[in-house]
Amino acid sequence: VISRAAHELQLESYVIGGFVRDYILQRGEHKDIDVVAVGSGIELAKKVSELLPHKPKVQIFKNYGTAMLRAYDLEVEFVGARKESYSEESRNPEVESGTLEDDQNRRDFTINALALSLNEETFGDLLDPFDGLKDLGAGVIRTPLDPDITYSDDPLRMLRAIRFASQLGFRIEKESLQAITRNKNRIKIISKERIVEELHKILLSEKPSVGFSHLHKTGLLRFILPELTALEGIDEIEGQRHKDNFWHTLEVVDNISGNTDDLWLRWAALLHDIGKAPTKKFDDNLGWTFHGHEFVGSKMVYKLFKRLKMPLNEKMKFVQKMVLMSSRPIVLAQDVTDSAVRRLIFDAGDYIEDLMTLCEADITTKNPRRYRRYHN
Ligand code: CTP
Repeated sequence: VISRAAHELQLESYVIGGFVRDYILQRGEHKDIDVVAVGSGIELAKKVSELLPHKPKVQIFKNYGTAMLRAYDLEVEFVGARKESYSEESRNPEVESGTLEDDQNRRDFTINALALSLNEETFGDLLDPFDGLKDLGAGVIRTPLDPDITYSDDPLRMLRAIRFASQLGFRIEKESLQAITRNKNRIKIISKERIVEELHKILLSEKPSVGFSHLHKTGLLRFILPELTALEGIDEIEGQRHKDNFWHTLEVVDNISGNTDDLWLRWAALLHDIGKAPTKKFDDNLGWTFHGHEFVGSKMVYKLFKRLKMPLNEKMKFVQKMVLMSSRPIVLAQDVTDSAVRRLIFDAGDYIEDLMTLCEADITTKNPRRYRRYHN
């Protein structure tokens, strides 16, 4: 239908971005389709709607020059091909119409710049100016242009690179990775909401430690979740050392992710030890202690969610509760007075105990029986 509409308007159109990438990777169903028109994306959207039997409503975003409609369970976004340049000072791009190639140039990664032709003569042809197909095959995240330019056009792309690496199990090409470390400061201009969306996606990936260790090594994590970077390192006093709570946390997050897809349990695992940095003490008799870290940590969860502009709702309280209970063996949901939070705990069911167990990953992995005794 899009192809016919474009033909009637005598313009070229292409499917581009995530849909093409996931289609080639055969990675589930991608429900959003991005269509580029060499011409007006809004006019194309209107024409497509006319040709569809149910004449879906076209939502127009004038400021962006884009339009969206829903059809057959799909969300189709139309955009006119453009050249885009962002000035240093402003986050609003200066937009100018351009060719398909201009549009591919302004994309974040080679694997997201692949376009499929919807034009009659070339229908289905893949337009791949940056060898994105090769990168898809080899599992590589690479910016199409000089990464300093790509990241400064939109610094969120640094996080996106890491998120795709974590989601797809890809590696980030050397230059594209080094440029993240160089440009990390610029993440400050990005809205908290966009950042959190990427954090959710990293947490929901199969092995979130891939993403979090990239975030840490590039220095981005210190800007986003300083509570976590504060956990890194091992101190030694009188020959006594404690574990490195940052790397321990990543181990716990991977473990829990093997057991549950629940985003909020994964957040709880990520934050379960954040109270340990401010409570760390060396006691002559006891050695290293983190007395009261669960309580301090659960308070920190509130501040962290607030800082990241995340909703302070029952999910947040659930995470707080989990952090509060993270070192205790048995959780009685009945003890929790807030009914919405209690519901979440009941829904999490068996995983609650998994979380408790996994928070003690170092004990359990070494000796599960000892763990049981320890807690009994
Ligand atoms: N894009 C970009 N820079 C961004 C965001 C998006 O160049 N900061 C481009 C990429 O070509 C991307 C497309 O816009 O493929 C669509 O973006 P989006 O829907 O955010 O991501 P997807 O690639 O579709 O992936 P996902 O749906 O997994 O987020």
